[in-house]
Amino acid sequence: MGYTLAIVGCGVMGQALLSAIYNAPKASEEAAKYYPSKIIACNDTAASAELVENLVSGLKPSPNGIEIEIAIDDNERATGEAKVIILGLKPFVVEPVLSQIPNSDGSKLLISLAAGITVGQLNQHYKKVSRVMTNTPAKFGYGTAVVSHSESVESEEKALVSELVSQVGTCLELPEKNMDAATALVGSGPAFVLLMIESMMEAGLKMGIPLKESRQCALKVLEGTAKMVEITGQAPGALKHQVCTPGGTTIAGLCVMEDKGVKSGIIRGIEEAARVSKELGQKK
Ligand SMILES: NC(=O)c1ccc[n+]([C@@H]2O[C@H](COP(=O)([O-])OP(=O)(O)OC[C@H]3O[C@@H](n4cnc5c(N)ncnc54)[C@H](OP(=O)(O)O)[C@@H]3O)[C@@H](O)[C@H]2O)c1
Repeated sequence: MGYTLAIVGCGVMGQALLSAIYNAPKASEEAAKYYPSKIIACNDTAASAELVENLVSGLKPSPNGIEIEIAIDDNERATGEAKVIILGLKPFVVEPVLSQIPNSDGSKLLISLAAGITVGQLNQHYKKVSRVMTNTPAKFGYGTAVVSHSESVESEEKALVSELVSQVGTCLELPEKNMDAATALVGSGPAFVLLMIESMMEAGLKMGIPLKESRQCALKVLEGTAKMVEITGQAPGALKHQVCTPGGTTIAGLCVMEDKGVKSGIIRGIEEAARVSKELGQKK
């Protein structure tokens, strides 16, 4: 019962997946089969392995009985033992590392977190590939993950990916052609939202509200507004108009933001991030 999951490259994102899968609540009888009995966290240096050690030493026993092994410079052995492999490497090391860990019988499932590396590129090494783009809020269980699969990934394997990856937050499937856009929107997205939070905090500060309270206001406005859009299901534009009193403060502020090109700046910025993601995938 159970299988081995190897996380090759267990840094920021690898550790987010590691702790989310390890800490997942006790699975139903139906979902239990998707959980590994053992996770091997693989890094190439003692320094990065020590960071995993620190994380693991603070964990309580896994509700699904998962064990963790920490490995250094041992990718070949770990991936040989694993049925499922999560690649948490930086994009530029994906190709050399995959060349060192051949997938002899083509049965293993590779789940790649690497930005810009296409399913087609990964398919040159592994037949069954799921490409995942997630983001740093995953470390706190509030991540968003977009997944696309190669043709040979079967429905049970898709369900496994969805079960494991959704432990970092929300997981949705999109075709591979949308992955560069998803990289920009989801992967880089937190940085764009942080710019908004920082700008709102500094606006409060500029007008005399202390930093701590400005921060609290900015965070709660963002959180509350996102919830409002989610709960009502209404278009953001319609909700925006509800906030605008005729001749009032909100429409005045929005007009200045339109003059400054805030909306097109956000759209073009996300588009630019997607363009760079595509370029990353083309670099060898
Ligand atoms: N961070 C984000 O916000 C974010 C968001 C979306 C997607 N991603 C994607 O997630 C992937 C990982 O990013 P990250 O931020 O988690 O990077 P990271 O923190 O640098 O983690 C990469 C890990 O891989 C290890 N490593 C390097 N070479 C290795 C090898 N040959 N064998 C085994 N392990 C090796 C590194 O160890 P050493 O440091 O000791 O070399 C490090 O622990 C990237 O492809 C990135 O595009 C990241």
